[in-house]
Amino acid sequence: MDLKDKVVVVTGASSGLGLAFSEALVAKGAHVFGVSRRRETLEAIRDDLGERFHPLPCDVTDEVQVKMAFEAVAREAGQLDVLINNAGLGKFGPLDGMPTEHWTVQMETNLSGVFRCTREAVPLMKRQNAKDGFGGHIVNIASIAGLIGNPNLSAYNATKFGLRGFSEALMKELRDDGIKVTCVCPGSVATRFADVAGSQGTANPMQAEDIAETVVHVLEGPDNYLISEVVMRPLRPKG
Ligand SMILES: NC(=O)c1ccc[n+]([C@@H]2O[C@H](COP(=O)([O-])OP(=O)(O)OC[C@H]3O[C@@H](n4cnc5c(N)ncnc54)[C@H](OP(=O)(O)O)[C@@H]3O)[C@@H](O)[C@H]2O)c1
Repeated sequence: MDLKDKVVVVTGASSGLGLAFSEALVAKGAHVFGVSRRRETLEAIRDDLGERFHPLPCDVTDEVQVKMAFEAVAREAGQLDVLINNAGLGKFGPLDGMPTEHWTVQMETNLSGVFRCTREAVPLMKRQNAKDGFGGHIVNIASIAGLIGNPNLSAYNATKFGLRGFSEALMKELRDDGIKVTCVCPGSVATRFADVAGSQGTANPMQAEDIAETVVHVLEGPDNYLISEVVMRPLRPKG
């Protein structure tokens, strides 16, 4: 896909990976609708990146807000070429002390949030396929924690294993509608993720810009060429 003038929704665009995706896509000439709960942060990003970045304040755990956000994209842009389901968080800790809210917020954001956004995006992409013969591309940001379970990550692991299953099923469901689905599984990346998760993080993580470069490469592939899953890790995580 040539990304110039394409319309992209990036969830979790206010920081970390989502911000890096937004920067890389705007640099390619795409229009990026950036979803997050923090309106002022999104507006500051627009001041920085310019008018091709469109703040789209929305909580992906709220069904009504998600519906309204995608209606706004359809109304303002008239198309949707790419959805990057990236909003997510971890809340790490032993299961026997885990507050129910920690379980729920991870499920509601990392898994049900992806469901809500994807359900709104797919009809727009199917319509595009009927018109142009190519529907679009959905990229789900899972994690290496979707491949490997670890102590104190049970809820987070469950969401990311779940997201990989969701992605594979959807990839097979939508490929004949001209819609690509790619699941991306990064290891540790230098963002505020570890602070939110309450973990120490990795000594020598990858950089968000490098993950963004790979995602752009995946999006730019030829129409009949689908990279369905990508795993990336730091070479020397301990430095
Ligand atoms: N960093 C890593 O090591 C790593 C590794 C593998 C996978 N990942 C995955 O990468 C994704 C991005 O994480 P990150 O590392 O970039 O962390 P981050 O810097 O903390 O960014 C998380 C983003 O998600 C947004 N978000 C959280 N809850 C939301 C909600 N209910 N509605 C809308 N937006 C919400 C946040 O925006 P607001 O707070 O403004 O709403 C923020 O933009 C996550 O899915 C994470 O699981 C991260």
